[in-house]
Amino acid sequence: MSFPVHRPRRLRRSPAVRRLMHETHLVPSQLVLPAFVREGIAEATAISSMPGVQQHTIDSLRRAAVEAAEAGVGGLMLFGVPAVRDATGSGADDPRGILNVATEAVVAEVGDALVVQTDLCLDEFTDHGHCGVLVADEEATAGRRPDQVRVDNDATLERYAAMGLAQARAGSHLLGLSGMMDGQVAAVREALDAEGFIDTLILAYSAKYAGAFYGPFREAVDSQLTGDRRTYQMDPGNGREGVKEALLDVEEGADVVMVKPALPYLDVLAEVRASVDVPVWAYQVSGEYSMVEAAAANGWIDRRGAILESLLGIRRAGADAILTYWAVEAAGWLREQL
Ligand code: PBG
Repeated sequence: MSFPVHRPRRLRRSPAVRRLMHETHLVPSQLVLPAFVREGIAEATAISSMPGVQQHTIDSLRRAAVEAAEAGVGGLMLFGVPAVRDATGSGADDPRGILNVATEAVVAEVGDALVVQTDLCLDEFTDHGHCGVLVADEEATAGRRPDQVRVDNDATLERYAAMGLAQARAGSHLLGLSGMMDGQVAAVREALDAEGFIDTLILAYSAKYAGAFYGPFREAVDSQLTGDRRTYQMDPGNGREGVKEALLDVEEGADVVMVKPALPYLDVLAEVRASVDVPVWAYQVSGEYSMVEAAAANGWIDRRGAILESLLGIRRAGADAILTYWAVEAAGWLREQL
């Protein structure tokens, strides 16, 4: 009979030993709450594909922001749902546009306690639902199949620069560039600096993959999209390309880079973390949220356990902070654990 020389179980022998040996820590300030604000509704409205998440009015958004600040979360990422959309997404850079008005309101309410962040992308504001403006030729505007629509990269950069300025003027602390256009970080940084907004941070959604996990979000923002985003968001099979996108964004001046979605892309997250020297965030997207909620609602999974384990896994893979719809609730649990 021989006995093991190595006994890793020693490190697990009691709650006190396990607590001391625990490698990966998650605290409320590392969580960012994404929130939706919709123009022209009288009351906050449930999103059926995302149980527990709402489209806010400005007033209910203010209250949610206060609640998030009290829970100790690190920030709030705002998405606007405008009442009217058009081909160029005019509502995006209109100072009276829903996202800009909401940003002002939230900054006035909690601007010292939270990093107030805004989604910088045109898809919520365009009537075709794409993240940019379309190539302005007849084919693109008349009768092209939705999946053949072409997004004009460089014309979109001008729209992003205008949108970024409008958000900075509204008081946004951090702009989340989620549109996946080439050169978007440099274009927005240049526009901000030229107007003196040198302290406005840029988060680049560097490795953003085209896939099925954004489905519930599209209901949350009443997306008008037909077709897909595969000419600008990335191919789920491409890991090296994700690292390259992150390196380019850092070179263009991104303060933070992000990988999105989170759980199916933990390998990309780890590689990006190893390749750059700026903070790396991950977005636990709507589909990741709704899967757990659906399974939990059926009694098939331990809801709290699954949520905390997924957040911890995303941290362990290298995320410095995580955008998650569970931010406030998870922050409460994390405080209980201290
Ligand atoms: C683009 C954007 C999207 C999400 C965040 N920013 C939608 C998309 O790319 O289709 C999805 C987030 C989620 O699914 O939770 N403005």
